[in-house]
Amino acid sequence: MCGIVGYVGKRDCTQILLDSLSKLEYRGYDSAGIAVFSGGGIKTCKTMGRIADLKEKINSECSDLCGSCGIGHTRWATHGEPSDVNSHPHGNAEISIVHNGIIENYQKIKDFLIKRGYVFESQTDTETVAKLLDHYYDGDPMETIRKVLGEIEGSYALGIIFKDFPDRIYAVRKDSPLIVGVGEDEAFIASDVPAILKYTRDYYLLEQDEIAVLDNGKAQIYDKHGALLEKELKTADWDMEAAEKGGYEHFMLKEINEQPDAIRQTISPRISDGIPCFEECGLTAEKLAAYRNIFVVACGTAMHAGLVGKYVIEKLARIPVTVDVASEFRYRDPIIGEGDLVIIVSQSGETADSLEALKLSKRRGAQTLAIVNVVGSSIAREADMVIYTHAGPEISVASTKAYSVQIAVFYMLAFLLAYSRKQISLEECKRLTAVLESVPEKLGEILKSEKTCQFVASQLVNSENLLYIGRGLDYALSMEGSLKLKEISYIHSESYAAGELKHGTISLVTESMPVIAVATQHDLFEKTVSNAKEVKARGGKVIIVTQEDTEVGDDVADHKIGLPSIDDLLMPMLTVAPLQLIAYYTSVLRGNDVDKPRNLAKSVTVE
Ligand code: G6P
Repeated sequence: MCGIVGYVGKRDCTQILLDSLSKLEYRGYDSAGIAVFSGGGIKTCKTMGRIADLKEKINSECSDLCGSCGIGHTRWATHGEPSDVNSHPHGNAEISIVHNGIIENYQKIKDFLIKRGYVFESQTDTETVAKLLDHYYDGDPMETIRKVLGEIEGSYALGIIFKDFPDRIYAVRKDSPLIVGVGEDEAFIASDVPAILKYTRDYYLLEQDEIAVLDNGKAQIYDKHGALLEKELKTADWDMEAAEKGGYEHFMLKEINEQPDAIRQTISPRISDGIPCFEECGLTAEKLAAYRNIFVVACGTAMHAGLVGKYVIEKLARIPVTVDVASEFRYRDPIIGEGDLVIIVSQSGETADSLEALKLSKRRGAQTLAIVNVVGSSIAREADMVIYTHAGPEISVASTKAYSVQIAVFYMLAFLLAYSRKQISLEECKRLTAVLESVPEKLGEILKSEKTCQFVASQLVNSENLLYIGRGLDYALSMEGSLKLKEISYIHSESYAAGELKHGTISLVTESMPVIAVATQHDLFEKTVSNAKEVKARGGKVIIVTQEDTEVGDDVADHKIGLPSIDDLLMPMLTVAPLQLIAYYTSVLRGNDVDKPRNLAKSVTVE
């Protein structure tokens, strides 16, 4: 996700801003820029591309950019493709801002400002904040910022400079991280600690709605009512590598823990009047209701997200959904054409097989919808419509948070489809949407209690083979759990439809072949429990993943992972977390390179 930096002090800030931005590269970005108080005004230089491209542009076109106070940004596109004009900072000669997060009501603000004569250059949500600040600015930055904060909704960390107040940076945050670093006669803002480590280890953690004022090298922090706060100064004791991982041992664990935020960021901008709304992507309820068949085509984890999508869409909206592995779909002469919708799911947006499947679908006359994480990627550009997931960059090869946001999008599509096809009432659509909105909090609770998963991992670590079983939605989750374990622990594992076990595979069950039974669906619980008992009766060890309110006897399982309850249909949003954690801790215990498992690539751009 985007990275923010800022510097006020006595040194040449251009170099410091560029250096700090380079320490945030791990967050992923597609463009970069800085704005500096220089020669009595604010001067900006920004470009699509890497920090090296920004350096080159500064050297060739903006060599007069020098001063001792400025802000900088690395952009990871969400609203509007990666381009020079969409890059940050945004603003004018009077006010300049950098932003990390998503302004959910930006369209409303944009319409308000256009009516008042403002002309917009970029497609970003951030430019609306810059122009709203300009609209309210009356010489008092603090008051102006407070007015703007009262109107914007969503998540943000903002760094703001005003031409009238050189050598001063204002910073605020809500639901996006920001720290304020303090050195000797110098102060910094940054999205994360690595950006400032070279200059200082001392920093304040800016909390929700606090406003920091960095003036002449000193930092003061106020609450939202303007009262000066006494804050605890923290000291970073991490090395650079640990700092980039936010203190987590691996990117995978960091990304697992980022899931509640990623889900929030993905769903909240798409909820209008309490129900899902995808009109920004050109997907109206009427259009959705008219499709004859739906196909989901993807690879790996993204394909597993499609399996959850199939189940939920068919169950709620009563429209057939076929899920295909992209490398099979493209060579099986699929029966698709006009009136069909093909949904391509991809974290990277660059997977070769998925891209070719998309092109084939278009040639056959089907409408194509991409659910993609990386803005401006090939699949996003090629598809007729795009729903971007806002998971932020996923660095670990094993996909975790991308899966969660993909299934969140499928839930929203299913609710809207079901409502538009009159399969559920408006009230039910609102109720389901509200349940989805409650997921991040519940997921947060699960992630705090990772001890059980650590223990389960310790029971699996010496196994060479493993089975995952489940029925219905739990079967789809078993597949993802099994894939995660295989990818990073190198333990051979298979997922099986629980009812199919007795038709052959049960012959493999011995005490050295643990079975993970996923049984979160009340209507299928007893059936899966019977299959678990069959395993136990043959000396197998069973670990059951289920809702915490279900009773599980010793004859069913050796260990139970209990999950908080929500509607059965939405349980996959929670069930995936322990499966990811079991895979993660097993891999750690086996001493593997968790983030870069052998033989695997994050983005597979070859067939
Ligand atoms: C590779 C990755 C998987 C990923 C799959 C699809 O195999 O290792 O983690 O699920 O590609 O990638 P995509 O970017 O299209 O989601």
